[in-house]
Amino acid sequence: MDPLRQKTRFRNAAQTSLYLFLLLLFPVFGLLSDAAPALGMDRYELMQILRTIPPNGPFETYGNTILRPPPKKGSMDPVIFPHWSHRARYDCRVCHLELKFSIYKGETRITRKRNLSGRYCGACHNGKTAFTVRDNSLCSRCHHRNKDAYSEAFATFAEGMPRAQFGNGLDWAKMVKEHYIDPVHTVKPGAEPSMQLPEKLRKPLELGTKSPRSGVLFSHEDHMGWLDCSNCHPEIFDIEQEGTQYFSMESNIFGQFCGVCHMRTGFPMSDCNRCHPEMKNHKMPRSSYSF
Ligand code: HEC
Ligand code: HEC
Ligand code: HEC
Ligand code: HEC
Ligand code: HEC
Ligand code: HEC
Repeated sequence: MDPLRQKTRFRNAAQTSLYLFLLLLFPVFGLLSDAAPALGMDRYELMQILRTIPPNGPFETYGNTILRPPPKKGSMDPVIFPHWSHRARYDCRVCHLELKFSIYKGETRITRKRNLSGRYCGACHNGKTAFTVRDNSLCSRCHHRNKDAYSEAFATFAEGMPRAQFGNGLDWAKMVKEHYIDPVHTVKPGAEPSMQLPEKLRKPLELGTKSPRSGVLFSHEDHMGWLDCSNCHPEIFDIEQEGTQYFSMESNIFGQFCGVCHMRTGFPMSDCNRCHPEMKNHKMPRSSYSF
């Protein structure tokens, strides 16, 4: 199935319950601020909401995805996929375009058979590029229940890398720009060069509201290193100028629009300042873990 075709945004129970929980909060904050426009919230309201949501678990587990549906009951432990260790080597588009992994959790039909035939994880976990899916002594490197299994490796990896306040605690953008890491853009031999950014999109787009404080400069260029046009268009953003409906900060923190990536893999929504240069970040409660 084309991984980007499905339209449903709230795909799993955890997200749905978070959504319902936030929905309950909204009327309360709505009363606190009568100035907020119908589909917009002010900074104070957003901060209150953001304090209650968990995009900033421990740095070392941010972006670790417990794949679902879990393998048949009783047969194998679930699979915990660490984004950080893979994105250090590969751009998002390698998996989310070339290898056809969906960017929405639970949507990809990864099976043992497909892995063995060299698709999905098996495209790399073949004993050449990475440890193989065939070796009985290695099954538990992917199939296990230990959320901290990769934490030590993360700490080693993170040493000396540029820091950020949230997410993995790492500034991934800077890590690429300054060549701390050099993720490959393709694993398909002889792949066509991906579509170049048209000249007129080199200038950042002005998003956000009229208020200068909530202004956002969206840079296509910042994203093209990692992604492909089709990772965002037309599924997440309408390509027509300002054509994206119901695009607001609320929907971002519900994991839509920018939040598709910037709540789960890229730096999370709590890092206000990186999207709104006019805003300051607030301190968030966070894990006790530090490097
Ligand atoms: C080595 C492969 C690989 C790379 C590289 C990769 N991903 Fe993923 N990603 C996956 C897999 C596998 C899933 C789970 C898909 C599923 O459940 O159907 C996933 C899921 C996701 C999800 C949903 C997670 C959730 O918890 O809901 C997001 C968002 C995402 N990826 C974004 C990215 C971004 C952004 C990048 C680049 C910075 C990236 N991915 C790089 C393999 C990869
Ligand atoms: C590189 C990671 C990786 C390794 C190594 C690995 N698997 Fe898996 N395996 C997966 C993923 C991903 C799935 C799909 C799970 C999901 O979607 O929740 C899966 C699914 C399965 C399933 C579920 C049934 C099915 O057909 O999908 C079984 C059984 C299984 N693996 C057995 C094994 C055995 C046995 C080994 C060792 C010889 C092994 N796996 C090694 C990643 C791995
Ligand atoms: C594009 C190539 C590629 C794909 C696709 C890929 N991996 Fe990997 N993976 C690697 C490489 C390279 C390593 C590091 C080398 C090694 O450990 O052999 C790695 C390492 C890992 C590790 C070890 C992390 C650690 O630090 O201990 C796990 C677990 C893992 N992969 C799971 C998966 C699962 C699950 C999938 C499929 C959902 C998957 N990988 C898909 C290339 C890939
Ligand atoms: C990270 C996500 C992302 C990627 C990748 C991306 N875009 Fe966009 N694009 C956006 C957003 C966000 C907007 C603004 C949408 C709105 O205002 O409704 C936009 C707007 C546009 C517009 C309208 C421009 C305007 O003046 O309003 C065009 C044309 C466009 N994109 C083309 C592309 C092309 C071509 C590529 C690949 C080379 C691409 N985009 C890659 C997110 C992305
Ligand atoms: C398909 C995934 C995806 C979507 C959608 C997306 N981004 Fe990103 N964005 C990334 C990734 C990956 C990076 C690299 C940095 C990181 O991972 O923390 C990035 C980087 C950025 C940066 C650069 C930060 C820096 O320090 O250079 C800004 C700013 C940004 N995004 C804003 C946005 C805004 C605003 C939107 C919505 C209009 C958006 N992004 C939508 C994936 C995405
Ligand atoms: C990944 C980028 C990103 C991050 C991080 C981010 N925002 Fe936004 N924000 C946006 C975008 C894009 C819009 C514009 C949506 C639109 O066009 O309606 C926006 C709009 C807003 C607005 C205007 C009202 C509204 O609902 O649209 C406020 C207020 C706001 N953000 C506050 C915050 C605060 C506070 C934080 C940090 C806690 C934050 N934002 C973090 C991207 C981001």
